Amino acid sequence: GNHAAAGGALAGRHVLITSGPTHEPIDPVRYIANRSSGKQGHAIAAAAAAAGARVTLVSGPVSLPDPAGVETVHVESAREMLAAVEAALPADLAIFAAAVADWRVADAAPEKMKKDGGALRPLSLVENPDILATVAQRTGGRPGFVVGFAAETQNVIDYARAKLARKGCDLIVANDVGGTGVMGGDANTVHLVTPDGVETWPTLPKEEVASRLVAHLARQIAGKAE
Ligand code: CTP
Ligand code: CA
Repeated sequence: GNHAAAGGALAGRHVLITSGPTHEPIDPVRYIANRSSGKQGHAIAAAAAAAGARVTLVSGPVSLPDPAGVETVHVESAREMLAAVEAALPADLAIFAAAVADWRVADAAPEKMKKDGGALRPLSLVENPDILATVAQRTGGRPGFVVGFAAETQNVIDYARAKLARKGCDLIVANDVGGTGVMGGDANTVHLVTPDGVETWPTLPKEEVASRLVAHLARQIAGKAE
């Protein structure tokens, strides 16, 4: 139909986005986390709302305000993020921009650990659920289009292609975080990796990456059933 007349390229669509890091508790005052400001994911949520979508943003702990006009669900851990994502389905489009901690502490201490001057207690880690793969591989209720991110320090395109296949998503937004400035910075250089090929964009402000990505994804899902 004519989406522009209905208020934007994503009018009538539900877009689900994850953003930020997850925090995995060691004890009540300490945690393991990935570096992530949430800037890119939050900018995508704002851009999707501006394109007329109903947007659910599942955010780990960030110091950013909730984007205007976006239903924001705040979580801490990967398992909480997965539960919030599944509660927000169904969605027409799902974008997994969060930097999810790959591991959590198997036996987080219920009380604050004290130094005590003695031997360190080793942390035993267990792998977290893969939220993107879980959603992309759903047999019922899979979102119409599933997008992952891949932050890499080397072999960016090769690793992104491998992740695309392994996780079962439709597109990977790959970025090279090997240099300085991307993590927490305001600009991003991305490659859109699909089974059909690779499209490399110039270095752009994260807001510009967000609006271009939303326009690109709106075109991808435009042909699919409403
Ligand atoms: N992702 C996720 N849940 C996880 C780990 C990753 O949803 N437990 C998502 C991220 O949000 C991102 C994509 O998967 O969209 C790729 O994340 P990345 O960390 O690059 O992939 P991993 O499979 O964890 O591989 P590795 O960290 O070993 O490179
Ligand atoms: Ca990871």
